[in-house]
Amino acid sequence: MARVAVVGVGAIGSVLAGQLETTGAHELVLCTRRPLSQLTIETPDGVIRMKAPNLTDPAEATPFDWVMVATKVYDCAGAKLWLNQLCDAKTQIAVVQNGVEHRENFAPEWDVLPVIVDVPTERRDDGSILQRSRAIMRVETTSAGWAFAELFAGSEARVELIKDFVTAAWSKLCVNSAGVISALTSKPAGVLRDEALGELALGIIAECVAVGRAEGAKLDDAIGERILASIRSGPPEAINSLTADRLAGRPMEVDARNGVIVRRGEKHGIPTPLNRMAVALLRA
Ligand SMILES: NC(=O)c1ccc[n+]([C@@H]2O[C@H](COP(=O)([O-])OP(=O)(O)OC[C@H]3O[C@@H](n4cnc5c(N)ncnc54)[C@H](OP(=O)(O)O)[C@@H]3O)[C@@H](O)[C@H]2O)c1
Repeated sequence: MARVAVVGVGAIGSVLAGQLETTGAHELVLCTRRPLSQLTIETPDGVIRMKAPNLTDPAEATPFDWVMVATKVYDCAGAKLWLNQLCDAKTQIAVVQNGVEHRENFAPEWDVLPVIVDVPTERRDDGSILQRSRAIMRVETTSAGWAFAELFAGSEARVELIKDFVTAAWSKLCVNSAGVISALTSKPAGVLRDEALGELALGIIAECVAVGRAEGAKLDDAIGERILASIRSGPPEAINSLTADRLAGRPMEVDARNGVIVRRGEKHGIPTPLNRMAVALLRA
């Protein structure tokens, strides 16, 4: 049994909390900035109704064994206010976010376990959560990674221990980088079935591949085609979280998903004109 706090209970935080709840093994608390009246998660394996207590004020929190941060990357500063209260010397922190800068975003104050998550999930207008597939999470093969995986034993979530985490993180960034086209057009995933936009997606991913390789990721030449084929064969109505943010008028994770390709590209002298344009357009 572990005491686990989830900070940021939107789409991904709800998936984490729901899967941990199904283990029946942990004491959970849901840390949000607005009160949660009722949290229902529709998963491929049935509906989960959360019963865990909800805190909305970091000052009310006490130290937990694990803290899972599942805010958007642009809300890391708010998440850190929770960490100040939820952590003591023994607390382990998992950051379940997109991008490749999990550690940088919490350093130097916090040592975190980066987690990559694959689970298309949407928040509905009524606050309920639609989890479109079983969750797959990837962590480094370290003692913290093993301990994280152990938390989900008995749930339907799969946690993979990865030796080459850099490659895993940049592979996921390749997928996310193409998602900017949905955000730019304000259209769901089916928009990439268009030939011209598919070509554009391949160009955006190719820039990510070039920069990722310079960062040490082992990315093969066919990754772009595979990602495009996978998006095209997936549900055309799926909305990625960048697009969901744009449609809702919220800030967007464009720096974590495409800006980072431009920034790291500059560091390595690799031109990234398509990502640069996408970032500039979304920022405008
Ligand atoms: N959704 C997906 O399908 C998906 C898939 C893979 C990875 N990801 C990644 O997972 C991460 C989380 O994304 P998401 O889609 O779950 O985002 P989300 O639905 O917007 O949820 C983020 C939650 O964090 C909350 N939050 C923000 N600041 C907070 C604070 N100071 N204290 C407490 N809660 C706070 C937000 O509260 P409010 O409700 O008040 O805004 C929101 O409920 C992102 O990095 C995303 O790119 C998402």
